[in-house]
Amino acid sequence: MAFFFIPDYLTIFAPKSERMELLDGKETARIIKAEIAQQVKARKAEGKKIPHLAAILVGTDGGSMTYIANKLKSCEECGFESTLMRYDDSVSEEVLLNKVKQLNEDKSIDGFIVQLPLPAHIDEMKVTLAIDPQKDVDGFHPMNLGKMALNLPGFVSATPSGIIELIRRNNLETAGKKCVIIGRSNIVGMPLSIMLSQNTEPGNCTVTLAHSQTVNLKEICLTADIIIAALGQPNFVTADMVKDGAVIIDVGTTRVQDSTKVSGWKLVGDVKFDEVAPKCSYISPVPGGVGPMTIASLMMNTLKAMDLKGK
Ligand code: GUN
Repeated sequence: MAFFFIPDYLTIFAPKSERMELLDGKETARIIKAEIAQQVKARKAEGKKIPHLAAILVGTDGGSMTYIANKLKSCEECGFESTLMRYDDSVSEEVLLNKVKQLNEDKSIDGFIVQLPLPAHIDEMKVTLAIDPQKDVDGFHPMNLGKMALNLPGFVSATPSGIIELIRRNNLETAGKKCVIIGRSNIVGMPLSIMLSQNTEPGNCTVTLAHSQTVNLKEICLTADIIIAALGQPNFVTADMVKDGAVIIDVGTTRVQDSTKVSGWKLVGDVKFDEVAPKCSYISPVPGGVGPMTIASLMMNTLKAMDLKGK
């Protein structure tokens, strides 16, 4: 049988913006977790302790349960120990704070997370403040947020650091680029705006942090080399907001009803993928983009938590 090499003329001669590449978070996360698993295997062979992540889950919110299941599965893939503590929606703040205190003191636990959101009767900030910053592998404690802002060693929250890692591992240029982040949450938009404006690599962007009060958002987005959509509104970013060749990172993960799925729902990002993708140079999909990178970062933070203790 003869094989002919047929050049893909459409790709070769297409303008740069038409050669869109996918930022494959699923594959990048798989590689990171395989690297971590190697390190854990080596530690085990030397008779050293293996990392142990604990997670607190309150209630039965579908999104939170899926996140936690994926985090525990990733622990297994990395060779970590993991412990899940589940509470009913009606759990009191006091019970939860006592559990946090107990986990702070438990020497077998290297790091732990409290899955958010918590029920309205529990003060999330009070719970976050109760976590020992040295075990705060989510990087949500003000001590870790402050260290991140000053570029000091500490835990950086998993979604922003996952995005930074996705940018790094895909060799995307950021220095001097104009980056528009839509959404100013404490766990994504706000920390990411600081990280991408720092004198680091990746970093050195000129960052605009857009939010619900921003005027002329479309015009602002049209000037962006990089758009990071993190507002939690499905299909918010449309093609008319994106300049040719831009890099698009989609942080949105909203569950919407889909009767064609066995589960009855599908995950939808903040970017209207089908119409935006042909315009950009790189785009992260949902699912399979930022989500898996967030979990890979949590695994990296847990390994770091154990290393910090010198175990
Ligand atoms: N809820 C949504 N994202 C996160 C996360 O990264 N960590 C925790 N603990 N809760 C979340």
